[in-house]
Amino acid sequence: MQASDKAVRELGAFASVWTAIRAEATDLATREPTLRALLETQIIGVASDADIIAHVISARLAVASVDTEDLFRLFHGILLERADICAAIEADILAVRERDPACTTCLHALLNLKGFHALQTHRIAHALWINGRHEIASWLSNLASLVFGPDIHPAARIGSSIMLDHGSGIVIGETAVIEDEVSILQNVTLGGTGKETGDRHPKIRHGVMIGAGAKILGNIEIGAFSKIAAGSVVLKPVPAHCTVAGVPATVVRIHRNDEIPAETMDQNI
Ligand SMILES: CC(C)(COP(=O)(O)OP(=O)(O)OC[C@H]1O[C@@H](n2cnc3c(N)ncnc32)[C@H](O)[C@@H]1OP(=O)(O)O)[C@@H](O)C(=O)NCCC(=O)NCCS
Repeated sequence: MQASDKAVRELGAFASVWTAIRAEATDLATREPTLRALLETQIIGVASDADIIAHVISARLAVASVDTEDLFRLFHGILLERADICAAIEADILAVRERDPACTTCLHALLNLKGFHALQTHRIAHALWINGRHEIASWLSNLASLVFGPDIHPAARIGSSIMLDHGSGIVIGETAVIEDEVSILQNVTLGGTGKETGDRHPKIRHGVMIGAGAKILGNIEIGAFSKIAAGSVVLKPVPAHCTVAGVPATVVRIHRNDEIPAETMDQNI
């Protein structure tokens, strides 16, 4: 297939996609020591274009060839600088311990829950993203998605005391915002409609519970302490303190003001 004129123009001075990729990898390797050995092995030092794609895909499928110590240093460096991230992680452990009936100890949350692991990787990726280190933030985010399940754009803003229950299949878009004390179950999408650009993802306010498989699409607000029923497709803003259900979702219940759905996870209040 022939490349479009626009795609060719975007290559600028580079003779091909692969020369551009080699140059970009060489540049990135000088800026991100954590990725240097990986970039050398998979892109910079390899013989042919086919070698590059084979190296990159096979290494992703084998998870990652970054040295564990290098990853440790990347995480540790951010955590030492950012006491607020450490505090959010503690609040997340407590949130899972309190809300997930299957989680009987904090150690269990720490060792065994991939939703928790994905969220903490996101916190590090987001810190890198806002420091302008977009390439490594995206790389880390993709790795977390491969290993843990949730696919969270590193730019997404996520508060504290969050539970990503089970984690599998969760997708959170670039301009999504999730405030504190929110619970999100498996296979939830906070996505765009495909019709908007720019700020195009949902804003989830304090204390919301989003049931398994719910799809919330567009730059819409889910009001504080509301519940989204499992399997709903939400296309319009949801007021505070209510339950919505169905495809498309409509209000099925209005709550008392003292109910906190994300905390209790009570599906039959
Ligand atoms: C929505 C939910 C939280 C219950 O909230 P609630 O405010 O207590 O709502 P109610 O149970 O009073 O239900 C209100 C109405 O919505 C309906 N409803 C509830 N959940 C629904 C769903 N997922 N889809 C469609 N309708 C639903 C109820 O049948 C009821 O209808 P009715 O008034 O005609 O009888 C719960 O049904 C739910 O979906 N929980 C998600 C749990 C989950 O994801 N579990 C996975 C664990 S792995």
